[in-house]
Amino acid sequence: MDVIGIASGKGGVGKTATAVNLAVGLVMRGRKVMLFDADMGLANAQLALGCTTPFNFGHVISGEKTLEEIIVTTRQGIRLVPGASGVQKLASLDTLAAAAIVQAFSSIEEEFDFLVIDSAAGISSSVLTFMQASQRRLIVLRDEPSSIADAYGTIKVLINEYKLDEIYIVPNMVENQSAGRMLYNRINDVCEKFLSQSVKYLHSITHDEHMLAAARNYQSVLEFAPGGNSSRDFRKLAETVDSLDQTGVPSGGLQFFFERIIVDKRFK
Ligand SMILES: Nc1ncnc2c1ncn2[C@@H]1O[C@H](COP(=O)(O)OP(=O)(O)O)[C@@H](O)[C@H]1O
Ligand SMILES: [Mg+2]
Repeated sequence: MDVIGIASGKGGVGKTATAVNLAVGLVMRGRKVMLFDADMGLANAQLALGCTTPFNFGHVISGEKTLEEIIVTTRQGIRLVPGASGVQKLASLDTLAAAAIVQAFSSIEEEFDFLVIDSAAGISSSVLTFMQASQRRLIVLRDEPSSIADAYGTIKVLINEYKLDEIYIVPNMVENQSAGRMLYNRINDVCEKFLSQSVKYLHSITHDEHMLAAARNYQSVLEFAPGGNSSRDFRKLAETVDSLDQTGVPSGGLQFFFERIIVDKRFK
């Protein structure tokens, strides 16, 4: 199983859009995908997929529900772990509760090809913990000074403090692929110069009005406008992610992911 964490630094740049459409795109390719909505503040992956969930991760944290009881299969075929909307922060979990969560995930016997994690804005310790536990990290950014600065700030912490690699750039809301590639080149140059490490390029997502219309219709853009520009890009993104080299990627189930979270000393 490949674990893909999605971050950006800044909010509103398209993390949820990327997480959701990547997950849908991978399912369309026949993969088994779990989407974990780890944005405990907004929890809008379910809205983007048009599914209402009676329970969420907050109920697991509080001990009211088991993980099995909260996971839903969306109509797109994604196994979704709904985020806890505005409830307890993951970062504030004590060790016991955290261990219980690991236990909960260990009990899930389903096998997945991909676990996609949609995270909150910013670089709080819980976002960083998720990024560390992931096998690959996707940084979504747009061509705008604050987004570039925040993306760089996130990458800097991931590289300097967490010593992580497998960092991939996904330029979003770009005019075309070559504009996205140029944005990637700019941030990669800065990373090479100041962090002595390069970041990788995945694929860019074109700015597309269908995105807004899809959201208004509680659909992923891949369902709402499959022939649109962003859908074409998300299909290519899913294809690229699906064909990434798995050599050296530790295999294992969900429990390994959560075990990595717990061993992160910052997770207190
Ligand atoms: N490629 C795109 N083209 C047009 N609008 C987009 C695109 N990507 C995202 N959006 C819109 O931008 C807004 C923020 O996206 P969202 O995924 O919620 O960001 P984040 O999760 O990073 O806060 C949403 O209204 C979404 O529909
Ligand atoms: Mg979001």
